[in-house]
Amino acid sequence: TKVLVLNGVNLGRLGAREPLVYGSTTHSELAERVTAHGAALGLQVEVRQTDDEAEMIGWLHAAADAGTPVVLNPAAWSHYSIALRDAVAQRTAPLVEVHISNVHTREEFRHRSVVSAVATGVIAGLGVAGYELALQYIAADRHRSGE
Ligand code: DQA
Repeated sequence: TKVLVLNGVNLGRLGAREPLVYGSTTHSELAERVTAHGAALGLQVEVRQTDDEAEMIGWLHAAADAGTPVVLNPAAWSHYSIALRDAVAQRTAPLVEVHISNVHTREEFRHRSVVSAVATGVIAGLGVAGYELALQYIAADRHRSGE
């Protein structure tokens, strides 16, 4: 089973970016760790990151057309992009929203995600492990649905 892990705006800066909030793992380390975890679950994981909202929306359209499950960290777009939400709403397979930090303990504007209502589920505050837990859910769900 193929799974896309899609990271949004500013997440390419992981490691350098506010390490007290987001940890010291870089994006390429995250990609390596998450891909290896997926492989152990029998998933073929591809990790991508973009700062371009249009590119992210294109990836979500392609995932919807192909029925590909997605783990999505919409980053700052979570809090205001109705366009991203509308793309997620077209999903044809499970989509788990992940936030590295616990957005609910942070600024008020981070408490609401416009994406959450159209996601399968949401994980926040568990660091990079959140991506791995999302993959575990997707792997289990694939078994349940007999694929
Ligand atoms: C984030 C939380 C968002 O509020 C923030 O804009 C990000 C990252 C997280 O992973 O904790 O860029 O999605």
